[in-house]
Amino acid sequence: MRKNILITGGAGFIGSHLVRLIVNKYPEYHVFNLDKLTYAGNLSNLTDVENLPNYTFVREDICNFDAIKLIFEENKIDAVIHLAAESHVDRSIEDPFSFAQTNVLGTLSLLQAAKQCWENDFEGKLFYHVSTDEVYGALGRDGFFVETTPYKPHSPYSASKASSDHFVRAFHDTYGLPVVVSNCSNNYGSYQFPEKLIPLFINNIRHNKPLPVYGKGENVRDWLYVEDHARAIDVIFHKGRIGETYNIGGFNEWKNIDLIKVLIKVVDKELGRPEGTSEKLITYVKDRAGHDLRYAIDSSKLKNELGWEPSLQFEEGIEKTVRWYLQNQDWLDNVTNGEYQNYYEKMYKNR
Ligand code: NAD
Ligand code: DAU
Repeated sequence: MRKNILITGGAGFIGSHLVRLIVNKYPEYHVFNLDKLTYAGNLSNLTDVENLPNYTFVREDICNFDAIKLIFEENKIDAVIHLAAESHVDRSIEDPFSFAQTNVLGTLSLLQAAKQCWENDFEGKLFYHVSTDEVYGALGRDGFFVETTPYKPHSPYSASKASSDHFVRAFHDTYGLPVVVSNCSNNYGSYQFPEKLIPLFINNIRHNKPLPVYGKGENVRDWLYVEDHARAIDVIFHKGRIGETYNIGGFNEWKNIDLIKVLIKVVDKELGRPEGTSEKLITYVKDRAGHDLRYAIDSSKLKNELGWEPSLQFEEGIEKTVRWYLQNQDWLDNVTNGEYQNYYEKMYKNR
């Protein structure tokens, strides 16, 4: 059956992997990739699919309600996978307004457009909202986030994502909009903007620049290879139960400093440097404000109900990722030109 799917944020990190998966796997669907192309959106992430007949790029802001409604109507959109967001915690600490604008009001604008355009017939329609484990707050040394863990966001970013999750569920409960939500842990892989830990540190090791470790480096994150996240979204999109939430994670917890040492080892090896050379770049800096100690996802519901499991071991995923950034230095150089230098200077100068 032909489906017209609106994927928002498809020029970003996870979105580009998802667009690639869906357009290649489902030639009978038409994917409309709607993206504002902020600093984090990059059409060069999608050059391999941009000429496929079942793919269309639309440059638009999700907050522009009238334009979004028109896009729904003109293209007979019958499903949304919503990823567009401001996604970096450190930026949200500097500028919380843009996070409320895009993540909360932008999501509301999409929900309202879907509701108005689909109102006469919700049959076969779906609004899939992609969210984060950060909405659950921070864990102590033990335990996992499950789908029923109460929300306790700490950063402006996670507060804005939590708010958007609530709006999505409110549209289901109030108007009967068919929705599904997933909350995923930290992703890593190719095409991630080098403001996030892994690509930032790979780039800094490459340039022999200091590696700014926040606090004592003891915070724990649960890392998932981005293509496994895209596969999970595909499974939930097709088989997930309406109104449900699914947690996505790799049962793969790493203390930041341990992960950084693995990264150094792999990058040094790939660059032909003696093992451990770049450890001297480790620089402990002022901690992130409100820094969540630990995230860890229990994804057994997704495994037991829909049969999804991560496909890649972390060591293999990290090696693939490091090689990708080192082999795609043009991509890294392009995205770290210009405005990125100002960002870096501002974000790290007082740490
Ligand atoms: P990203 O920052 O790499 O990409 C975000 C994309 O959204 C960019 O292409 C950007 O241009 C676009 N965008 C931003 N504001 C927009 C607007 N107003 N209108 C239209 N497009 C806009 O983000 P990502 O890391 O790929 O994350 C994608 C989604 O997944 C987000 O909703 C994020 O909260 C969620 N998520 C991310 C992770 C992770 O580890 N990166 C983990 C769990 C969930
Ligand atoms: O858990 C899912 C979330 O993962 C997503 O919702 C977010 O969009 C995504 O950005 C990510 O958030 P984190 O804050 O966990 O990711 P980040 O890469 O910014 O940081 C990972 C850890 O590394 C965190 O404990 C902070 C630390 N860190 C980060 C940077 C950028 C450093 O020590 N130094 C740094 O320079």
